[in-house]
Amino acid sequence: MDFVRLEREDNGVAILTIDRQEKLNALDMQVVEEIGQTLLEVESESPRAIIVTGAGEKSFVAGADISQMSSMSALQAKRFAEIGHAAMALLDRSPVPTIAAVNGYAFGGGLEIALACDIRVASENALMGFPEVGLGILPGMGGTQRAPRVVGPAIAKELIFTGRRIKPDEALRIGLVNRVVARGEALNAAREIAAEIAANGPLAVRFAKACTNRAHDVDLISGLEYEADQFGLLFSTEDAREGMGAFVEKRKAEFRGA
Ligand code: COA
Repeated sequence: MDFVRLEREDNGVAILTIDRQEKLNALDMQVVEEIGQTLLEVESESPRAIIVTGAGEKSFVAGADISQMSSMSALQAKRFAEIGHAAMALLDRSPVPTIAAVNGYAFGGGLEIALACDIRVASENALMGFPEVGLGILPGMGGTQRAPRVVGPAIAKELIFTGRRIKPDEALRIGLVNRVVARGEALNAAREIAAEIAANGPLAVRFAKACTNRAHDVDLISGLEYEADQFGLLFSTEDAREGMGAFVEKRKAEFRGA
């Protein structure tokens, strides 16, 4: 991999870093493909959570690579969007929680990566937005679909139609990010959240993610049926016996993910 690094922490948390700093970590076709390949690789290792961040303190991801896109045909652009969708789906649909540590600029495709994650943490110097319409294009890596689901249709439309860049305080107010931390601290804050997640029953967390993902995809009755199924299924796991048994016995649970 030329532009994507993967580190594994002792607690099972994986950190994927997009590192193309000379272009502020902008996404060309190769970077998007490397993100997809890396996510596939890490998924097979059953991590407890995945953190995505950008290298350096200036930029998370400054968007799709405008130079490369400027010479794309319509068919190439569609393919680029599809490859982007596949990579984003690996975050969104990952069985384990994904956390974006937004350490600087998150424009266009950068914001779309963050939106494909379950949780977003931003540093004070982060700037976020969808500049695409100012370039005569539109957010093509899931932004038009995921932004309304996260911040609601009216706010998402304002962001997408104006292309306005917003600061972390506004992002926090509209629910685009979960928390804002000091410059240089986004990754550490994401690590702290990941560590809290990693201390819990891994199967319970996975099933809980699968349930909450359905909240936007299916009607309430179907979602509740799915929740009841997953709730019941967890009672067949060792982890559930261990977790509830440890409470009753007043000791700390030791989860094995089984
Ligand atoms: N695509 C391609 N290259 C990009 C890029 C992008 N999205 N964002 C930044 N870069 C490149 C710049 O062209 C520059 O390359 P160069 O040194 O070879 O000229 C390098 O990254 C540094 O960027 P620069 O513009 O000099 O940094 P800056 O701090 O002055 O400005 C931004 C930072 C993010 C405000 C500015 O680069 C920008 O507006 N980028 C485009 C953001 C965007 O519209 N993204 C959505 C794309 S759909």
